[in-house]
Amino acid sequence: MGAAAWWRRGVIYQLYPRSFMDGDGDGVGDLPGVLARLDHLTWLGVDALWLSPVYPSPMADFGYDVSDYRGVDPLFGTLDDLDRLIASAHGRGLRVLLDWVPNHTSDQHPWFLASRSGRGDPRRDWYVWRDPRPGGGPPSNWIDYTGRSSWRWDEATGQYYYRAFTDAQPDLNWRNPEVQEAMFETLRFWLRRGVDGFRIDVLSLLVEDDQLRDNPPNPHYRPGEDFPYMRELSVWNVDRPETRELAAHIRKVVDEFDDRVLLAELVLPLEQTVAYYGPDGRGIQVPFNFELLTAAWEARGIAGYVDRYLAAIPPGGWPNWVLGNHDVSRVASRVGPAQARVAAMLLLTLPGTPVLYQGDELGLADVPIPPDQARDPIANLIPGRGRDPERTPLPWDDGPGAGFTSGRPWLPLGEANQARHVAGQRHDPASMLTLHRRLLRLRRRVPALHAGAYQPVEADGDVLAYLRTAGDARWLVALNLGPGPARLALPGPERAGRVACSTHPGRDGAAAGGGCGQLELGGDEGVVVELG
Ligand code: NOJ
Repeated sequence: MGAAAWWRRGVIYQLYPRSFMDGDGDGVGDLPGVLARLDHLTWLGVDALWLSPVYPSPMADFGYDVSDYRGVDPLFGTLDDLDRLIASAHGRGLRVLLDWVPNHTSDQHPWFLASRSGRGDPRRDWYVWRDPRPGGGPPSNWIDYTGRSSWRWDEATGQYYYRAFTDAQPDLNWRNPEVQEAMFETLRFWLRRGVDGFRIDVLSLLVEDDQLRDNPPNPHYRPGEDFPYMRELSVWNVDRPETRELAAHIRKVVDEFDDRVLLAELVLPLEQTVAYYGPDGRGIQVPFNFELLTAAWEARGIAGYVDRYLAAIPPGGWPNWVLGNHDVSRVASRVGPAQARVAAMLLLTLPGTPVLYQGDELGLADVPIPPDQARDPIANLIPGRGRDPERTPLPWDDGPGAGFTSGRPWLPLGEANQARHVAGQRHDPASMLTLHRRLLRLRRRVPALHAGAYQPVEADGDVLAYLRTAGDARWLVALNLGPGPARLALPGPERAGRVACSTHPGRDGAAAGGGCGQLELGGDEGVVVELG
């Protein structure tokens, strides 16, 4: 893959189908809805969409419990709809990535139904079945994200099965070559239909220790603050060497087809995450970099992380940045609406591939969901940690159902978010949506921004600054992460330039630096400056 690969230049949009657009009035977004609103993505200027799961599923975890890897759930439409979506997206120059969920299936998947039917079933070994420990109890101390044992007792066959998530999501046994081949075939099925790649769900969890060794306790665990699963260090059931080998194998399968890409969710410390680029870059092209999802919103800390991350990427690897997804509080709620504009500029100007979460382009905030309307299973398992607030439907206009549905939306849209609708923002030069569109256009037009080198610029206080350069072109990005005004000495030799884009309306095109070479930034302001 050369530097010109589409996924290196491009910007990926995570499309959460339940909440994008409802085509049939049942209150849940679907594929005909996506098709009807595809123009939003081309107008915005992204390059690819990653569709969160649309496979047949009992929806115990909203599609991350797959009961058939080769179909489309009727809730979302038909296989024909998906084929039409792929063709229509391609016709507009948009790539399409699917979510691939290899770690676990639904407990209603025919493979698991067979596996569970008896110890002698040929599919028994397709899942991770174990006897109790000598003396009784779960075979190891591994826990799930709620802090409960990851082992679930099956009365009928007298063994435990392993599941990292809910009881309805049994883990596949990736040590079994038949499982590997069957799952690789599901990749080929979609690659032949023209999808441009996959986002791999929790790749780091694929294989567990074959000796079932107990995890050690985490000495830094803060009860009540940290997720309950952090109570132990998941050294024996997460990021095993076998999983890294499988990552390279998965890549080989995808490389049987031209020009495809793999994104992967890992949720690991930096050094372990970058290992998934693989030896000689033969692993995952985009191992998600989730730091900005949780980082304290503080200039020096973020600047330090950018340096550490870029230095950790092996030769030939390409960086990536994620500011939001369907599992974490929205960026506008984490950092506030004013800083969300600065965050958008950061996401779209750092070196590497940005992944933009649906609705962040509108500045949507988390919608508080009363417990009796909660839909996410986690909301029941870990009160206060449900993921519904960041999954609410997109508001398209000020009509009934906010243009999202003619029925009753599966989650409330939230009054504040309804006012942030697409139609209203499209024509407002000061809107968050317009800011995203301007940044995306600028990024596409300027090679220094989508492919150039990165150089940190010395700054202090709340200012985060860096240069993006290509040939003679030098672009400065200066972001004020604080509410008060700030200054930055423009880097030489030019010490002057022109503001190509500001988060604050009315400044674009203005000279920067003047005679004194100082760039003035308003509170909560970010600017992209063409130097020279
Ligand atoms: C990560 C997905 O992003 C999340 O939504 C899901 O619940 C788990 N993996 C389990 O598949």
